[in-house]
Amino acid sequence: MQATLRTPRRAAVLALLAALAVALPAFAQGVAARDAARLPEAATATREMVVTAHPLASEAGALMLRLGGTAADAMVAAQTVLGLVEPQSSGIGGGAFALWRDGANGALVTLDARETAPMAATPERFLDAVAAPLEFADAWQSGLSVGVPGVPALMQATHDRWGRLPRATVFAPARRLALAGFPLSGRTADQVEGLLKRNASCADRLFFRDPAAFAHFVEGDATACAAKPAGTILRNPAYARLMRRLARRGAAGFYAGPVARAVVEAVRSDPNRPGDMTLDDLAAYRVIARAPVCVGYRGRTVCGMGPPSSGGVAVGQMLRMLEGFDLGDDPLGERALHLFAEAGRLAFADRNRYVADADFVPVPVAGLLDPGYLAARAALIGERDMGAAAPGDPPGAAAAGAHVRAKDSGTSHVSIIDRFGNALSMTTTVESSFGNGVMVPGFGFLLNNELTDFSFAPVDESGDPVANRVEPGKRPRSSMSPTIVFDAEGALSVVTGSPGGSRIIGYTARALVNALDFGLDAQAAVSAPHVQNRNGATEVEATGETVWPGYDPEALAAALKARGHETRVAPMTSGLSMIVVGPDGRLTGGADPRRDGVAAGR
Ligand code: DON
Repeated sequence: MQATLRTPRRAAVLALLAALAVALPAFAQGVAARDAARLPEAATATREMVVTAHPLASEAGALMLRLGGTAADAMVAAQTVLGLVEPQSSGIGGGAFALWRDGANGALVTLDARETAPMAATPERFLDAVAAPLEFADAWQSGLSVGVPGVPALMQATHDRWGRLPRATVFAPARRLALAGFPLSGRTADQVEGLLKRNASCADRLFFRDPAAFAHFVEGDATACAAKPAGTILRNPAYARLMRRLARRGAAGFYAGPVARAVVEAVRSDPNRPGDMTLDDLAAYRVIARAPVCVGYRGRTVCGMGPPSSGGVAVGQMLRMLEGFDLGDDPLGERALHLFAEAGRLAFADRNRYVADADFVPVPVAGLLDPGYLAARAALIGERDMGAAAPGDPPGAAAAGAHVRAKDSGTSHVSIIDRFGNALSMTTTVESSFGNGVMVPGFGFLLNNELTDFSFAPVDESGDPVANRVEPGKRPRSSMSPTIVFDAEGALSVVTGSPGGSRIIGYTARALVNALDFGLDAQAAVSAPHVQNRNGATEVEATGETVWPGYDPEALAAALKARGHETRVAPMTSGLSMIVVGPDGRLTGGADPRRDGVAAGR
């Protein structure tokens, strides 16, 4: 990665970084204490904005923008801080998908930095000795689930091509915070505690079995242990060393040398189930530039990530099917939510059957988005719930698929617009909470468990191979849906996306409908209560984390039941972020009130 513009004055950079280390912990606590009953207001800006799921990461990104950096510079700063302060959700040991809109020429590029299966992997990877699928927790907390990480290569590719600040500058906020310390968030502490409770005892641990992760997140020993309390000042000098190394050597400092050896050793010596990653697997990792998946929606163009993510196709299908309906003017209107749930059913039936890594199995992307095909699918939507939807037969269909599972907390979304007209929409993940639970010795980052996004069963009930089966060098299917919307003139309009496992698709589609159909501002669009259907029960968000005056989930569920829906009222922890570009070019940003994020801009 090269600095392509002038180096900012050193004194100014040092002053800003010092301010970051001192001021941000206080800022973080202030945000955590905000009034949960009030709908937060959207942030506004005229030049540039970054929205992430943690105030320290948003501020690190915003700092890069203030220094004259681009969205690429801001992304590296935000991602490296997220890996430190929100390590349960994303980091250096994970993967990501990013959409990049180039301000210079208006081009849209999508970058696939998904984790990749080692070359030794086989379709039977997640089967036990009697060919039964492993328990999810057993596979999750193991070396088998670790895919070759993509985030370091994505940071390098993005910064090389579009960055303007020196590498030392973009890695500096994370390095400084790792050395100075930052307050452990309540969210991280709660998740540590939740996982500790799943162990048989402090001595007999599957979760936090790794001594480095145990020492970092937990206090106590084998006789008594508990999560470090929220507010504990955490330092991570090993992570600071890693930041320094990446700043000096770029991604090569990760995929070869001591970091690569430490990753391979950690994977292959896992105390639960050892994996099979090699140094060659790491050396072979590549970010893949793929064609965006775009659909027209009510005069705009909505673009997302293609396979191996199912996000772009499924969000696109839902919107195209909904376009034929009048959704009314109430974002919580019961008929609009019924229609939205039905579109979700149909999209999930297709997603589950057809979408996987298109470099390994044929995925009929054009057929799945074909207007005639989607018109026929939309015609299946009536005034009552259709019940379980069967997959359709889109033009060009060939493959089969399976397997849906909800995930919590292992993912984060970053939205950025800079003063140069560039936009980045990136969903970044370690899969489940704290990835596979192993912190790489000496370098302070967690490994992912992304390979559990593959189907554990290599064949379906009829014995046919499942599209999303494990194969060597393949990337597991994802639901991540980083999205960028353009208006009728092709100008940048909306940047959005969310974590939430397979619920990501519904969260993202719903936020888009809230903004584009109901005219909600960016904050309201991400705050509005969720309703969605993944081709099972219709899920209605319980009150608690959602922030919406007068919302009554039981009444909404009853109204949907009257239309034949089986409903489930449940917490739905999305982590949406959104930036909307107004007609005057002003930016309006919103961060999901269900997580700790903020929009920072000016
Ligand atoms: O790629 C995927 O679809 C999943 N690994 C994402 C997991 C996730 O969103 C977890 N949580 N919030």
